[in-house]
Amino acid sequence: MKIRVLGSSAGGGFPQWNCNCRNCAGVRSGAVRAQPRTQSSIAVTRGHTGEATHHLTRSPASWVLVNASPDILVQLRASPDLQPARAMRDTAIAAVVLVDGQVDHTTGLYMLREATRPWPLWCTDAVYGDLTRGNPILKVLSHYCGIDHRVMVPDGMTFEVDGTPGLRWQALPVAGKPAPYSPNRQSPHPGDNVALLIADERTDATAVYAPGLEAIDARVWQAMQSASCVLVDGTFWSNDEMLRAGLSRHTAREIGHLPQSGDGGMLEWLARLPAATRKILTHVNNTNPILDEDSPERAELKRRGVEVAWDGMEITL
Ligand code: MLT
Ligand code: MN
Ligand code: ZN
Repeated sequence: MKIRVLGSSAGGGFPQWNCNCRNCAGVRSGAVRAQPRTQSSIAVTRGHTGEATHHLTRSPASWVLVNASPDILVQLRASPDLQPARAMRDTAIAAVVLVDGQVDHTTGLYMLREATRPWPLWCTDAVYGDLTRGNPILKVLSHYCGIDHRVMVPDGMTFEVDGTPGLRWQALPVAGKPAPYSPNRQSPHPGDNVALLIADERTDATAVYAPGLEAIDARVWQAMQSASCVLVDGTFWSNDEMLRAGLSRHTAREIGHLPQSGDGGMLEWLARLPAATRKILTHVNNTNPILDEDSPERAELKRRGVEVAWDGMEITL
């Protein structure tokens, strides 16, 4: 299987349009060595399917889009193979899977409204509820291409997603927060946020994708321990990062993100994984010092063998 990181930043992107934090101002002026990043999304493929009927013809690979970021149009332009041009209107994206109902993971559905058929869309009932009530994107979309809703039950049961035969998908509930417009903002439900496990039946390789999680419970930890690659929440370096910068009244954990540093932080968990496991942080907030390639925090990741996702990064498992 192949995972392409389409966008590796948290909501707001990097640099964020109205932000003058050290990183955002620094990447604009060139004073900070860092790569701009678009908002969180990956595309997943099993690779080419079907037998070649001629030595030159192979059916193009189909992909599953995991999360639809507001930056999807720019992301698609940067990934020309997602446009196989078999017809006047075409795409290599066969289905969409959502890990939560937040703005940065769902607004791109509006940009995909010209599809010629309803999008097969996998999400939990909790997310479906938020996207038909608090932020009724799916109702608005019904006036365009519409969606073909597939219920994703966050119980670890395996399911197959259109376009990736041979990949086994599972969703596990993770602690986190539903979006501010969710009727359940103050009383989170299982399924507001999920971790995805994606396994390739052919190679047995497994990826865990969890761009937003507040804590790692026993089931998610078990999945991480048996994965070949974990692509996990890299939003904040420290729990009080936004507080100290004067940008928020909330800690990382209060808004559903486990920070990297400190007791019980993501780095402690990652250090306990097998050495061979690829450990990658994604959904990186623009305030996070790991974006600065010359920062001591980035050097610390390097020492620990932890990578930082970047737009266009491709992971072959
Ligand atoms: C989050 O991950 O906490 C949210 O997506 C933040 C946002 O986009 O406003
Ligand atoms: Mn987010
Ligand atoms: Zn910033």
